[in-house]
Amino acid sequence: MKHLLSIESLAKADMDQILAASGPIKKERGHHKKQPLGGQTWAMIFTKSSTRTRVSFEVGVRELGGQVMFLNANDIQLGRGEPIKDTARVLGRMVHGAIIRTFAQKDVEDFAHYSRIPTINALTDDEHPCQILTDIFTFQEKRGPIQGKVVTWIGDGSNNMAYSWIFAAAKLGFEFRIAAPREYQPAPEILSRAGGKIVVTDDVKAAAHGADMLYTDVWISMGQEAQAAERIKKMAGYQINAASVKLAKPDALVMHCLPAYRGKEIDEATFEAHAQTIFDQAENRLHVQKAILDWAVS
Ligand code: CP
Ligand code: NVA
Repeated sequence: MKHLLSIESLAKADMDQILAASGPIKKERGHHKKQPLGGQTWAMIFTKSSTRTRVSFEVGVRELGGQVMFLNANDIQLGRGEPIKDTARVLGRMVHGAIIRTFAQKDVEDFAHYSRIPTINALTDDEHPCQILTDIFTFQEKRGPIQGKVVTWIGDGSNNMAYSWIFAAAKLGFEFRIAAPREYQPAPEILSRAGGKIVVTDDVKAAAHGADMLYTDVWISMGQEAQAAERIKKMAGYQINAASVKLAKPDALVMHCLPAYRGKEIDEATFEAHAQTIFDQAENRLHVQKAILDWAVS
């Protein structure tokens, strides 16, 4: 029984195991010999919106032989203030695993501790581990080992996705460059906790130069809506567009975890020019998360 709570806490050997299993699981789709979730029921507790994570986990659990129950946090007593540790102790006696999307990282960690069932972080304010594992799998599927490569992030360098990338870079040995305005650069404490080769700058051109991949995410993450105007003003220019793509390697990949806001973190023409990669990336959520589920119960 294992938990996937963050990239920071995921052992390198486990990361390698999940990434290695994802390709064969993708090839086997529709005729899995192994049904590792056979006879199990999994709960999904979501406090924030989701399209990709919700659908890919619901399909993935079923394809591995399990049943899945989607619980909008506002429909259960959790939404009325029941402590997460009590919710965890109840669900831990009834279901076999949990997939949680919420605000505080501590809530996912407390759930794992009190429930004693495999618990998967489906996005918190701190990290989005399932997305990052998928992104790395997608890069490697298209370009081979990510070790030694340069991944450039343009946009909000202080959000959950940026932080998961920072922790992944140190573990897998690639250079991670962040181009972000000063207010939205990663906290120094995260950089020192992660180690690895991380470059932080406010210069998009310097960061994009010679990159193997350009990556971005929304400027306004879920829960930050009240700061929208300020963020849009400060992050203007921190966009993936023809100018930044031109500075990267000629075969550089462009990825986006989605949803994408055109005219903000990426422009419409660049998004559409790289839509094949971006939607392969979205599809791979299903395959990689099946590898995560299989790993978690083994
Ligand atoms: N990328 C991602 O996690 O998408 P959703 O918010 O739609 O799940
Ligand atoms: N940083 C974004 C990721 C969405 C998948 C958010 O937290 O809203």
